[in-house]
Amino acid sequence: MRKKIVAGNWKMNKNLQEGIELAKEINSLVEATDIKDVQVIIGAPFIHLTELNKAITSNKIRISAQNCADEKSGAYTGEISASMIESTGTQCVILGHSERRSYYGETSEKLVKKTNLCLENKLTPIFCIGEVLEERQSEKHFDVVKSQISEGLFHLSAEDFGKVILAYEPVWAIGTGVTASADQAQEMHAFIRKTLVEKYGKEVAENCSILYGGSCKPSNAKELFSNEDVDGGLIGGASLVAEDFMGIITA
Ligand code: PGA
Repeated sequence: MRKKIVAGNWKMNKNLQEGIELAKEINSLVEATDIKDVQVIIGAPFIHLTELNKAITSNKIRISAQNCADEKSGAYTGEISASMIESTGTQCVILGHSERRSYYGETSEKLVKKTNLCLENKLTPIFCIGEVLEERQSEKHFDVVKSQISEGLFHLSAEDFGKVILAYEPVWAIGTGVTASADQAQEMHAFIRKTLVEKYGKEVAENCSILYGGSCKPSNAKELFSNEDVDGGLIGGASLVAEDFMGIITA
């Protein structure tokens, strides 16, 4: 049975003190609520990771980075390696977010290296894919998503692929307030799962958690998550307010 997961992506928000405060609030809400089969993840800025790992006491919450370097170590000024992230107690890394693909030139080639480094360091990649508006309007969205998955991940063995979480985030829905409809989300998630069946077989595909991301809120989360192939969400804006994030977790 695949896991239900709600992952927050704080992006470049909250200073260290504010981040610790928010994480503690989320921690107490999660501890006080019966959410037995949901895994909660908090994707925080690098400098928060060590402190958040200390602040979180709930075993339902894991901490994630939002990126990692595409090299192991060495003369790469300003970069943070997968092994450094692992050494803070962090367990996951968001990779290939559309903001990194579009603003920081994250290519599939780089993502292959980053994915490998995460897995070598026992970090779970939360691998993001999704089309831009023009690609959907010209009906290329299925091809785009399939290429992102195959170029970034299909070099992995079935065993390693089984450690990856996927996040489908239509770029036109990120931070725009426009969400994909429940039917659009299910249609794409089912397509992704079918693509995984073709490559790795039914068992691996059935066990892979595929999250939806893009303007997910407490008010629309239930409808999105009730789809058979939607296994949770990757949440930006609404993960910055503990009550909203909790409203999505309980959905
Ligand atoms: P959003 O962001 O929920 O603010 O649309 C989602 C994401 O970028 O992961």
